[in-house]
Amino acid sequence: MNNGLKTERMVTLAGSEGGSATVLAHPNIALVKYWGKRDKALNLPMTGSISLTLAPMNTRTTVRFEPGREADEVWLNGAPADVKTLAGVSRHLDRFRARAGVRMGALVETVNDFPTAAGLASSASGYAALSMAASEALGLRLSRQALSVLARQGSGSACRSLHGGFVEWQEGTLSDGSDSCAIPLAPANFWPLAVVVAVVEAGPKPISSREAMQRTVDTSPFFPAWRQRVNEDLPVVREAIARRELALLGAVAERNCLSMFATMLGAAPPVQYWRPGSVAAMQRVQALRQGGLNVWFTMDAGPNVKVICEPSDAESVCVAMASVPGVALVLNGRVGGPAERLA
Ligand code: PMV
Repeated sequence: MNNGLKTERMVTLAGSEGGSATVLAHPNIALVKYWGKRDKALNLPMTGSISLTLAPMNTRTTVRFEPGREADEVWLNGAPADVKTLAGVSRHLDRFRARAGVRMGALVETVNDFPTAAGLASSASGYAALSMAASEALGLRLSRQALSVLARQGSGSACRSLHGGFVEWQEGTLSDGSDSCAIPLAPANFWPLAVVVAVVEAGPKPISSREAMQRTVDTSPFFPAWRQRVNEDLPVVREAIARRELALLGAVAERNCLSMFATMLGAAPPVQYWRPGSVAAMQRVQALRQGGLNVWFTMDAGPNVKVICEPSDAESVCVAMASVPGVALVLNGRVGGPAERLA
């Protein structure tokens, strides 16, 4: 464990005993997307967004604050984290150290059981797990709402992964961001939908969502129309969830996703996440629907396609997606539960 990268910044012992916690969190898939910030430093969104929490994919994170440890050390999927990841995690831990009034460094070990940084929301599950683990390790016992506010500052969409089921991130109005957090709309067992993930490419994406989002806000002439679309879609998706109407939910999620990508294509230079396999997978979903299946797609900032359907159709959807040219791997998912402490 000695060869992990260390922060340059010195963190001195504050006389506390330290502590450790392990947390499991799931990624989430946006049905109405977050794409545009009003405050870059605090990750405050320009609109609300709605997601479903995706199981069984998960991130497991252990945070151990150690008296005498001078620098944070971060291991991601069994290897030392790169300098950028380490700096982001360290900055996030500072938020918790400040609340607890301690200055000791931490050892962080985090493992994703699904492809990292490929548009499968590993930063969402990662920062949700990190936030809860840091809070628990320091004995802060923050509410889920407080954790959601803090997780948001690590990665915007992470604020939604604290909760299970169907979740809304409220835009908020306060400039300090204290009211911009996620609230649960309905638990996973309210509507146990299946989510089939068609992995087109499992490697890291060419441009981070942070950079792509900002470029879209700054340069896409379609951005005002995108905001309007989101504000129209939010109440419809809320209603579709309350009524458990998959055809309505799917139609709005699909159009919301395509509108987000259209907005990105208007950026200068354009942001392009799709691969041939992404297009083929979306077209296969449309063909399945024409064949009578109640099946809908969405995508996030990456090439992979997520297919939402009834659990009874999941098997045939998996088989169909596995045969799409360019689809490398199919993962069988479902609506998942909230972030939870394991140890
Ligand atoms: O939270 P970020 O910075 O990784 O951005 C997430 C953006 C999308 O996944 C494309 C949309 C969303 O609402 O999750």
